[in-house]
Amino acid sequence: MLTQTDKALELAERLGGERDGEFAPSGVPISEIARNFGTPFYLYHGETIVGRVRRVREAVGTEVSYSVKANPSLGVCQLIAREREAGAEVASSGELAVALAAGFEPEDIVFAGPGKTDDELRRVVEAGIFADNVESLGEIDRLAKIAKAMGREIGVGLRINPTAQLMGSQMRMGGTVGQFGIDQAELREAVEKTLSHPELILRGIHVYTATQVFEVEPLLEHCRNIFEIALEAADYAGGPLEMIDFGGGFGVPYFEKMSEFDLERFGEGFRELLNAYRTDPRLEGCRFLFELGRYLVADSGVYVTRAVDVKQTRGKTFVVTDGGMNHHLTATGNMGQVFRKSYPLLNLTRMSGVPEEGVAVAGPCCTPLDMFGSNISLADPEVGDLIGVFYSGAYGFSASNLGFLSHPAPAEVLLWRGEAHLLRAGGKPEDVLDGQEPLES
Ligand SMILES: Cc1ncc(COP(=O)(O)O)c(C=O)c1O
Repeated sequence: MLTQTDKALELAERLGGERDGEFAPSGVPISEIARNFGTPFYLYHGETIVGRVRRVREAVGTEVSYSVKANPSLGVCQLIAREREAGAEVASSGELAVALAAGFEPEDIVFAGPGKTDDELRRVVEAGIFADNVESLGEIDRLAKIAKAMGREIGVGLRINPTAQLMGSQMRMGGTVGQFGIDQAELREAVEKTLSHPELILRGIHVYTATQVFEVEPLLEHCRNIFEIALEAADYAGGPLEMIDFGGGFGVPYFEKMSEFDLERFGEGFRELLNAYRTDPRLEGCRFLFELGRYLVADSGVYVTRAVDVKQTRGKTFVVTDGGMNHHLTATGNMGQVFRKSYPLLNLTRMSGVPEEGVAVAGPCCTPLDMFGSNISLADPEVGDLIGVFYSGAYGFSASNLGFLSHPAPAEVLLWRGEAHLLRAGGKPEDVLDGQEPLES
């Protein structure tokens, strides 16, 4: 089993390795990127993203939808849209705006998520996306009313909460009682309700119940169950379905003792299932898709922060960096994690330095919660060194409390074809005043 340092070194190697002792993704020294754009910053590696989307498509033999929530940075979305490798799955009208601006075709966009407001549904209808994956019977009626008022038709996917649980995952959003989806017991009612509205086009079904799934066999069984639910829906509809959205939830091995999700083994099993079911006339012309976020982008990203202080306290070395939980909530274990474990970290300035064990790496946020890890192996840490947090391409920038402690926001940089492109400039201290109205009296 790889240590976190081995993992970080392997990830660094995949992104382009080192030059003159420092991390140099695609051959560009990290110090040069830091000099040009300032620290802290998120670095995304374009070829890694595109390669991963392709690998998934080839392995599972279906369409892939990129879950924009994982990384809604416009440049990242543009890259995926431009390469025509995937569609988009969005969860808010903000993400819809990003997906459209990035160039995803409306017929390749699906929208899932509870609590869609009337304004969001209006935007869905306006954009004419492939499917609004409805989360409740009430949403079907609201959507129909809005589409009718606008004189338009709109595609509908029924997000079904299956009775059976997907085992072997680390966060469940289905197979249990919750705010997501329509209970499988209401499948017939949902189909009939959708068909009763002439403005709605029944596309098919959507099931997304869990994330961080690593076990192949339970996931295959889950997909087989989704095929069966889809066939039942087609029976109620009296005609073939146009879409089965299998969700996904493929895991990323962020932490110690975790191994990669076996994509090839899953793909083999899934393609067998697909071949068995796709000839059923109830699925004639059906689009099959997986929607994935972290699995497509997590390993492409490194959060890079600079050591501002290196201090000893009672025999322990603390490296204090210029960014922390305010920029990268998930990597500091503050996104609801029960056990706080560290992501793979490296001293990017001294790739072949002598590792010091048991180092604590803490951010600037004045709370002991602001810690990337308290027992990190880090090479010769010195003030000014660049510290890299790997697996940071997903749920980083947009999943953080950027306003916490009023530090400037980090920059976002995309490395693509050997060039570093600034996607979003880092902030300035004065940004904290933006949008605020001073008291006049
Ligand atoms: C409906 C839906 N689809 C896709 C995703 C993306 O999950 P992941 O990034 O784990 O692939 C999520 C995550 O919350 C989700 O809720």
